[in-house]
Amino acid sequence: MSSRPMDWENVLNEIDSIIQPSRGQGRVADYIPALATVDPMKFGLAVALGDGNVHTLGDADEYFSIQSISKVFTLSMVLRKVGDELWESVGREPSGSPFNSIVQLELEGGIPRNPLINAGAIVVTDHLVQQQGADATIAELIERMRTLASDSAIHVDQAVAYSESEAGSRNRALAYFLKSFGNLRSPVEETLKAYFSHCAIAMNCRQLARAALFLAFDGTDPISGIQMVSSKACRRVNAVMMTCGHYDNSGDFTYRIGLPGKSGVGGGILVVAPGNGAIAVWSPGLNEAGTSEVGSLALETLVRQTGWSVF
Ligand code: DON
Repeated sequence: MSSRPMDWENVLNEIDSIIQPSRGQGRVADYIPALATVDPMKFGLAVALGDGNVHTLGDADEYFSIQSISKVFTLSMVLRKVGDELWESVGREPSGSPFNSIVQLELEGGIPRNPLINAGAIVVTDHLVQQQGADATIAELIERMRTLASDSAIHVDQAVAYSESEAGSRNRALAYFLKSFGNLRSPVEETLKAYFSHCAIAMNCRQLARAALFLAFDGTDPISGIQMVSSKACRRVNAVMMTCGHYDNSGDFTYRIGLPGKSGVGGGILVVAPGNGAIAVWSPGLNEAGTSEVGSLALETLVRQTGWSVF
């Protein structure tokens, strides 16, 4: 790595010039009605560094629905509270299937392939709900996010949570199927209430990059000194993000960007650059696998400019 300080203005200008012609590309998620009306032209990016600096571009202060990106935070929380016992109820292999697929669950005895597909994330959430109930789980999660981002405006968008629950037949099917295998301990609706709520957390790129910085620094937030997870658990979370963070698009994402990442159908992508920082990008148009198209392009450019790929 070069010891020259990074020229962030130049890096961000380059990203801007690369993404401009592609803005609006991809399909905005519409299976959650409350997300269907988001403006596809939006684009924001934030890079949070270990020294506390945050560099931003575009709509970095605008709130969006973090959706599946929340699964990284619930996974961190469960590894802290439950530890390696988690791996008895969920695997850690890429699924090669869409995020909401049900087919492997029957073939594999109700053990989801990994904690980032919907079935696996529902199991993760269920462990937390079993310990402390849905409301306390969400309250703790939000409190942690607010503390890390030093911003008390982070919240659950109740309209999005309600909309997802109303349209939630697929996740309900997954949860009841898990229950039939004995791999869901709390009442299904209690676990789903927590799951829909954490998916509906509203944050902006600046807050999200800042809140995830612990993942780039061995589990401890370098600004506040708060240990979120052990360094071992931090390596596990990053490994699962790298291999499973984009479902059946995980290989291509790693090929192009070479960093642990997690997509969300709200159009956000969170990426961890170990030892360097955390990056949040938001652009609502998605590819087939539910990963932001323009967000991926921006990250590809960022990695080229910074040399931050782990490969
Ligand atoms: O459960 C769902 O379908 C959504 N709350 C989250 C899906 C999602 O974000 C997939 N990621 N790209």
